[in-house]
Amino acid sequence: MDSLVITGGRPLKGRIRISGAKNAALPLMCAALLSEEPLRLANVPDLADIQTMSRLLMALGVTVNKEKVASAHTLTVNAKTLDEVVAPYELVRKMRASILVLGPLLARCGVGKISLPGGCAIGNRPINLHLTGFEAMGAKITLEEGYVEAKAPRGGLKGAEIKFPSVSVGATENLIMAASLAKGRTVLKNAAREPEIADLAVCLNAMGANITGAGSAEVTIEGVASLGGANHPVMPDRIETGSYAIAALITGGTLTLEGARADLLGDVLPAFEKTGGTIEEVEGGLLVHNGQGRPKPLTITTQPFPGFATDMQAQFMALLALGRGISEITETIFENRYMHVPELRRMGADIEVVGSKATIRGVDHLIGAPVMATDLRASMCLVLAALAAEGETTLSRVYHLDRGYEHLETKLGQVGAAIERVVAKG
Ligand code: EPZ
Repeated sequence: MDSLVITGGRPLKGRIRISGAKNAALPLMCAALLSEEPLRLANVPDLADIQTMSRLLMALGVTVNKEKVASAHTLTVNAKTLDEVVAPYELVRKMRASILVLGPLLARCGVGKISLPGGCAIGNRPINLHLTGFEAMGAKITLEEGYVEAKAPRGGLKGAEIKFPSVSVGATENLIMAASLAKGRTVLKNAAREPEIADLAVCLNAMGANITGAGSAEVTIEGVASLGGANHPVMPDRIETGSYAIAALITGGTLTLEGARADLLGDVLPAFEKTGGTIEEVEGGLLVHNGQGRPKPLTITTQPFPGFATDMQAQFMALLALGRGISEITETIFENRYMHVPELRRMGADIEVVGSKATIRGVDHLIGAPVMATDLRASMCLVLAALAAEGETTLSRVYHLDRGYEHLETKLGQVGAAIERVVAKG
């Protein structure tokens, strides 16, 4: 397993190109299953999760062609040759987002079968909201030998009114895709409002779907008989944006994040400003710099969009570990998303976790140490802490990072970070 060696204490200065959003690209790739014509996705990030999704789609008989265009990738996903409806365990267990093939398979083929995704480091991650929604549309759900099978009624899925008891990004996306080819109208209430959902609807409508309200809490989908192909650019990654913005603030540097959009940040944007950071919109992106030395303390509660994103919680904790005072973070979305805390403590952070609340007493410096990545965003938290720490940090198990940050050490190295990847032997 590869590791990263980082020597901290260098203010980052320069420009970083923000990649296409992982959490937009993954559902968009699944949307291609709904059509017999090719879906061409531009600005797809080169990430392990994208490769896993490509392998999963190919296991279903779908062709996925990748071509390098400028500094990004274009994927052409063609499900004309779709001939399998079972998503295998060995791929599904690697990535929770695999569940997003179930809705399209159900809508296109009348049946879909997927290994139960199982939990992950940040929580047990059930799929009940997805399955209850499919049942409301007439599907019959059976669970056997670790697989869940969803079967549409003979005439196909029927539109339904579905009110989510709690907000779920994936369930909202899965049901929008399933409803696109159902008979009649589907209305989703208490739908997730993440920007990736609006982006998915733009793509589906370009394929011929009839979706209104995506990005709000109420989404209406008028089912159509079939969908065609489309060309769609993947939106910029708001979590990568937030992560590199913290890299600027935590090192006392100045970064221009090319392609970043302030409107995608929700409550993360004012949170940056409350710590004393400056984020301003400039031609083609965002300029981030840290005007006032150590960050001011903050109280944060993670919420569904447009609230403070849970995917930014760990990264903010790295920043607040160096804060001028006591900060509090409450994690409301996942039950175990503080795996980065023991590792931060090894670097000298003063953090106490009681239940879902972390209390962070800012210290005036962190010290480099050998630390271990446990999940995607916790890994980025440790990279950010290492960039600010005195001395050298070795971060092991960086495969977690490779799931969600494209060319991380290249991007950071280009703006002055002392970071290198040590490739494991064998
Ligand atoms: C998406 O996961 C993102 N992944 C996650 O990003 C993100 O943290 C999460 O949304 C919340 O914003 C992708 O988009 C690929 P949820 P998802 O369904 O859809 C519970 C990253 O770091 N729940 O909104 O799986 C669930 O356990 C990843 O890029 C049910 O109880 O999240 C969680 O506690 C991590 N039943 C909460 O809802 C269900 O059927 C929110 O989950 C579904 C979810």
